Amino acid sequence: MRYILGIETSCDETSVAVLEGRATHASIVASQADLHAQWGGVVPEAAARQHVERLHPILQQALDTAGIELRQIDAIAVTNRPGLIGALVVGLAAAKSLAFALRVPFVGVNHLEGHLYSAFLTEPDSDIPFPHLALIVSGGHTELVLARGHGDYQLLGHTLDDAAGEAFDKTARLLQLGYPGGPEIDRRARQGDPNAFRFPRAQVAGWRFSFSGLKTAVRREVERLQAQGALNAQAVDDLCASFQQAVVDALIEKAVSAARAYGAPTLTVVGGVAANSALQAQMRTACQRAGLNLKIPPPNYCTDNAAMIALAGYFRLLAGERAAYDLDAYANAPLGDDSRPQ
Ligand SMILES: Nc1ncnc2c1ncn2[C@@H]1O[C@H](COP(=O)(O)OP(=O)(O)OP(=O)(O)O)[C@@H](O)[C@H]1O
Ligand SMILES: [Mg+2]
Repeated sequence: MRYILGIETSCDETSVAVLEGRATHASIVASQADLHAQWGGVVPEAAARQHVERLHPILQQALDTAGIELRQIDAIAVTNRPGLIGALVVGLAAAKSLAFALRVPFVGVNHLEGHLYSAFLTEPDSDIPFPHLALIVSGGHTELVLARGHGDYQLLGHTLDDAAGEAFDKTARLLQLGYPGGPEIDRRARQGDPNAFRFPRAQVAGWRFSFSGLKTAVRREVERLQAQGALNAQAVDDLCASFQQAVVDALIEKAVSAARAYGAPTLTVVGGVAANSALQAQMRTACQRAGLNLKIPPPNYCTDNAAMIALAGYFRLLAGERAAYDLDAYANAPLGDDSRPQ
């Protein structure tokens, strides 16, 4: 098993990757963000149609970048859960057809498992350390996971309401900063004062998170400033910085405590929000203090990409896993759901 093809179409990124063993030779990502920006969020049917249009040109681009022919592919890994059903089935159907035509094995990968492996994409030559503690912070998830081995995960806690990325996107919408909101809030926050507004840090027991109270607090402040005619550019910068700081504080506090509590020497931060510059800088300092190794993927591997799916699939294929042609797509699927019908 030399070359693995990865396919990711769970949301609004169409992506194809080629790995040789654990080394990434190509990871092409076509984002649909511009398309969905006009509606202020992802429109599922539009996302699925874009995947139909773009998947095969991107597959060709990935093969060209890797410098190989389609017939050299030895196995295929495809995201089949969780995600938008219409979007998932485009990638899944393509993966099955390719596997059928090439007579190669394929596996279905949980998108969240892909995010977990993204932390190690740039280190193909070193062992993946187990156990490690993963903080998944993406558009749809905020979870603390203890990774005990390949495919062996314990979900410690998740958000009770909004995901961190969702909170960034909703706050950005409130401030009319466009979609997706995370990168823009990150940029505006650099010019703002994180102490200008004191937003609440939710006190949630255990390894869980909550961001809906924070979102409401920002809305109230925006309404108050609007009523006073004081919602100027500086106020928006300060709101962004103060909101971002509240999210960062919550994430760092829980993730570092969990890593210590479970004796995990390595902490990974993965998913789109892991690209946040304040989170990265402050998490680095906190981990140094706590004596933890910190792994955060480069920004292009924080957000959705097929390389992480191919890497997760690589270990499943190595363990002998093979999917059947009746493999289905699932909108909801927790990490570690290996009892799924395959
Ligand atoms: N620099 C940043 N700061 C904060 N948030 C960011 C940044 N860059 C991206 N994001 C956020 O990351 C999210 C997208 O991440 P990702 O692609 O991993 O999510 P998703 O795939 O839509 O969700 P999931 O993986 O849970 O299914 C968006 O909510 C976006 O606003
Ligand atoms: Mg994702």
